[in-house]
Amino acid sequence: MFLAGDPTRVDRGVSQPESSSRSLLDAGELAAIAHRLGGEIRRDYPDGVVLVALLKGSICFLADLVRELPGPCELDFLALSAYGDGRTRVRVVKDLDLEVAGRDVVVVLDIVDTGLTLAYVLRLLALRGARSTAACTLLDRQNRRLLPVEIRYVGQIISDEHVVGYGLDFDERYRNLTGLQVADEAILRADPVAMFARLAQR
Ligand code: IMP
Ligand code: MG
Repeated sequence: MFLAGDPTRVDRGVSQPESSSRSLLDAGELAAIAHRLGGEIRRDYPDGVVLVALLKGSICFLADLVRELPGPCELDFLALSAYGDGRTRVRVVKDLDLEVAGRDVVVVLDIVDTGLTLAYVLRLLALRGARSTAACTLLDRQNRRLLPVEIRYVGQIISDEHVVGYGLDFDERYRNLTGLQVADEAILRADPVAMFARLAQR
């Protein structure tokens, strides 16, 4: 059971949890995106493909996407971590298990924001000798891009708001929400469980 935040929050002058989120995409809309993108990938790779999913945010999207690919398909996972000034450097936390040399690879991401993560992964796959690479992202926040990256499969373009649910987190919370919610970052910083209180009331 999710617990509400501090009930005295309003008295302390922090915004009410009622305004902490709004729905961006519900389960049906997310399934439709996975269906559409799965169809495009199936069409482009009739002889099979390796899906490389970025942990952890892509897990729900990957689970839906992979079930739209009934043909030959292999899965692998990569976890990266941003560090350094402005978190503009990226390092590998969990490496691939599969050998990707000579393979066609589609990178599966939750969201492309600055593009640093995707650019790093595409470079890594090229260094490892992948025959071809393409990117598939559930969300594309284009207006935050620092590095130009080509994305062949895009679920939805979004504006500059923090999104949680369906695998995406705020400080490791909210990945387990069925749908995608736009979160009010200021409220969540003041009370990280504020959205649970709101959603539990629904
Ligand atoms: P990039 O390297 O800046 O493109 O960042 C991509 C990563 O940042 C994603 O894979 C997410 O893990 C994280 N991220 C960026 N925006 C959001 C968001 O709105 N919600 C949750 N995670 C996000
Ligand atoms: Mg995160």
